[in-house]
Amino acid sequence: MKKKLNKIARDTNLFLNSFLYNQKKTELIKPMRYGLLPGGKKIRSKLIVDVGKIFKTNYKTLIKIGAAVECIHAYSLIHDDLPCMDNDSLRRGKLSTHKKFGEATAILAGNSLLTIAFEILSNLNLNNNIKIKLISLLSKCSGHTGIAGGQFLDLNFEKKNIPLKKIISMQIKKTGKLFSFSCMAPLIVSNNKKNLKKFDKIGNDIGLLFQLVDDLIDYTGNSKKVGKKTKKDLKKGKATLISLLGYENTIKYTKNLKLKIFKNLDIFGDKAKDLKNTINYILIRSK
Ligand code: IPE
Ligand code: IPE
Ligand code: MG
Ligand code: MG
Ligand code: MG
Repeated sequence: MKKKLNKIARDTNLFLNSFLYNQKKTELIKPMRYGLLPGGKKIRSKLIVDVGKIFKTNYKTLIKIGAAVECIHAYSLIHDDLPCMDNDSLRRGKLSTHKKFGEATAILAGNSLLTIAFEILSNLNLNNNIKIKLISLLSKCSGHTGIAGGQFLDLNFEKKNIPLKKIISMQIKKTGKLFSFSCMAPLIVSNNKKNLKKFDKIGNDIGLLFQLVDDLIDYTGNSKKVGKKTKKDLKKGKATLISLLGYENTIKYTKNLKLKIFKNLDIFGDKAKDLKNTINYILIRSK
């Protein structure tokens, strides 16, 4: 699994590097590269390739779609670390983008990464109908019904008593939707309408699992190893499953969620092996 993840991360970075190299040179390219390229796990790209494997989708196309997703993800992290949001100074083992380049530059580099994702999708060598579907879905997963909406709720829920259902739906928005896009994109490329809803759901669940484990890592992890400050959610009064149900119950919840996802994948048999390996990795990872 680690070997495959590394290869996908390498291929994604190669594509992003050359895409940025071919852009018009501006002052923002440097902070954009800083927030985008070094250190990220590229787990969303891995999921795109894993789902693509089930449906025999073209690898190079999937890497480019993954690159677009990683741009959105990097933008969301740059903004997530800003003083008006989580106010974090460490990201991927180095200074967060606003600490390195200043707040205004970080905001603008984030905006530019957000828009460049759609430029990447527009340039894909696919028929226009498919491209429009990808662009439309990625917009929905990133904006007020996805990441931005979820981030709004995450901040709004701080220091409040929030019921389980609301915490889950906030986490699905802020993190799950981009995973849902990643799981649906290969089906859109292959024009497979039959399984689209199923992978929307599976993507939401994998994203939720990913965020729950991120919260567990924040609770127990070592900042040096994780590459970002830990034990911050408690201090900030973030509404998480840990704050509501406790650490042990959250672990139980993640294990059950994984079993549920695996059950939904059973009909794909061996073809879903890579995807299942990635899900296992998401659950047991320590960074
Ligand atoms: C961190 O995402 C933010 C969350 C959505 C929990 P990742 O853990 O995928 O961050 P990188 O890309 O590997 O740094
Ligand atoms: C971030 O969640 C989710 C995003 C959509 C960016 P967190 O705030 O928990 O992510 P980290 O822990 O700072 O990476
Ligand atoms: Mg946050
Ligand atoms: Mg944060
Ligand atoms: Mg976190």
